[in-house]
Amino acid sequence: MISKGIILAGGKGTRLRPLTNVLNKHLLPIYDKPMIYYPLCTLMLAGIKDILLITNPLDKVYFEKLLKNGEQWGISISYKLQVNPVGLVDSFLIGEKFLDGNSVALILGDNLFHGDGLIQKLLDMSKLRTGAKVLAYPVKDPERYGVVEFNSNGNVLSLSEKPKFPKSNYAITGLYFYDSTVVERSKQIKPSSRGELEITDLNNLYLDDNQLSVELMGRGMAWLDTGTFDSLYEASGYIRTLELRQGFKIACPEEVSWRNGWINDSQLVKLANSSISNDYSSYLMQLLEK
Ligand code: TTP
Repeated sequence: MISKGIILAGGKGTRLRPLTNVLNKHLLPIYDKPMIYYPLCTLMLAGIKDILLITNPLDKVYFEKLLKNGEQWGISISYKLQVNPVGLVDSFLIGEKFLDGNSVALILGDNLFHGDGLIQKLLDMSKLRTGAKVLAYPVKDPERYGVVEFNSNGNVLSLSEKPKFPKSNYAITGLYFYDSTVVERSKQIKPSSRGELEITDLNNLYLDDNQLSVELMGRGMAWLDTGTFDSLYEASGYIRTLELRQGFKIACPEEVSWRNGWINDSQLVKLANSSISNDYSSYLMQLLEK
């Protein structure tokens, strides 16, 4: 089982300026929670309790204030800095000591996953022992992403980063599972023509060794990235609609932890009482009554 996770929450957030002139993108609200709660809960739903959050030097203090060391949710959260956003593969160079030779799940801080069957998929993927596993999702605009090419048997033929002429409409999402060779492989990656250490190059190293598997996400699942004004707004609308209709919260770390058995009833009550009484704290109290 993969027990370590990295959340990458640095970057520039240029597409969201002026919203991100002062605030780190991952602290912006998605309806009733900060964006970072969503990728955090995705890792927690995959059974991962040991988490490294990587962010910019100026923003680290805000994440520490919000998420603390994770103990309140029965997990461990530690922090490292990325001084320049030189690419996603940098996560494994920054996180080398944290990983200490273990396998890992990496999630991008602005990626939101939700839907039927997701938890089982996450738990299955986190059983990875060797190689790499990534998720592919059908999108209308694959040229914005890393894109998978399949042969007629559904095997992966190639991966290309932001191709002008995509060979399928399947984009690689921002959640990746890698074995313990990830750090060694990351050290082989050179900056691309746009100057970034590209995750697609890392995935291609695994593919060249026949060690990459791509899991498809069905249309019943949602994968939203929240880096533009419209996607941010749409993600909030999506969460609001589901939460109001069902009465369940999506990506509530207190609830995920409690359902995973990482905190008990009295710890949950303590968390509910520790915040100002509002809809969020009443929701936590209601969980026990249900
Ligand atoms: P992007 O959306 O590619 O970049 P960004 O967040 O800087 O935004 P913009 O394009 O508007 O300038 O990044 C995807 C995610 O990865 C996002 O959550 C930020 C994070 N990231 C880092 O933390 N460090 C990096 O070096 C890069 C490239 C991204």
